[in-house]
Amino acid sequence: MRGGAVIPLADRFGRVATDLRVSLTDRCNLRCTYCMPEEGLAWLPREQQLTDDEVIRLIRVSVERLGIREVRFTGGEPLLRRGLVGIIEAAARLAPRPTLMLTTNGIGLERLAAPLRDAGLDRINVSLDTLDPERFQALTRRDRLADVLRGLSAAAAAGLTPVKINTVLMRGINDDEAPALLRFALDHGYQLRFIEQMPLDAQHQWDRHTMVTAEEILAGLAPFDLQPDPVSRGTAPAETWLVPGHVDAAGEPARVGVIGSVTRPFCGDCDRTRLTADGQVRNCLFATEESDLRKLLREDAGDDEVAEAWRVAMSGKRAGHGIDDPTFLQPARPMSAIGG
Ligand code: 5AD
Ligand code: SF4
Repeated sequence: MRGGAVIPLADRFGRVATDLRVSLTDRCNLRCTYCMPEEGLAWLPREQQLTDDEVIRLIRVSVERLGIREVRFTGGEPLLRRGLVGIIEAAARLAPRPTLMLTTNGIGLERLAAPLRDAGLDRINVSLDTLDPERFQALTRRDRLADVLRGLSAAAAAGLTPVKINTVLMRGINDDEAPALLRFALDHGYQLRFIEQMPLDAQHQWDRHTMVTAEEILAGLAPFDLQPDPVSRGTAPAETWLVPGHVDAAGEPARVGVIGSVTRPFCGDCDRTRLTADGQVRNCLFATEESDLRKLLREDAGDDEVAEAWRVAMSGKRAGHGIDDPTFLQPARPMSAIGG
């Protein structure tokens, strides 16, 4: 390790961030209706985006100086980032080697799964909200379900296991599909997790009253007779259940997860820090302030200075997202520009 000791990313509430989420681009090749408008968004200009070398440097500083142990690459759609394989290779050479994960919509994964695995990627999450091609087209405004399904198979074949699927249920759109999605996941050895929809859409159309809650999701899964998972949840946001009569690809009891971000918040155990594609640290998905590390990098700041700015950014992390608070303000950046 180069230079000083590790001084972790701690906040006033005793939480320590060890999980870094890096958004590699704000662009996407889908247009999920709950995320962005048909015409897309005003993408970051190229010069504002961190270069591959800048991304790699910040990951290195986070691992060597700040004690980051897990790095998850997100977007927009991270597979659209040209330098992705090289960035993962560089991250895999760090010491101590972080666990490397990626969240994708699955498009292009068929081609990239094996190269990503070879580069050092450990695990993958694929977003999939429906198994019906017409619904997929209505929901994402693109006719690409088959690509996603091939991407999932390729990820499993490449050993990016357990392959996880993230699903957002929306009332009147796909909320009848929970059992079919779970059956599909069980049949293929994928691990399914439902995520409550959060107020992070570019259009600001999220509505608490139409959101499908964790409780409703679980009610929809009643036919599976889910059992509480004896393995503790730790800092993981997903509450998991065992699915009796099913095993996963590794022969373990099959599980299904529910991430109740809104109705069952896990902010007290949060261990995350986020970096946007333009080099801003966010201490929370719902933060309304950011810290500009890109500026420091481009002013030739040393690693110590960058690390310290990152610590300061995290020390001000709020206790919780406050979605239920009357003063809650949705952040200016939408999910696609923050990273999931
Ligand atoms: N709330 C919850 N999840 C969301 N995603 C995108 N927007 C939202 C939202 N507002 C999910 C995507 C993908 C992951 C990156 O985040 O479906 O699974
Ligand atoms: Fe793209 Fe993900 Fe947004 Fe869908 S939810 S448009 S896949 S960034």
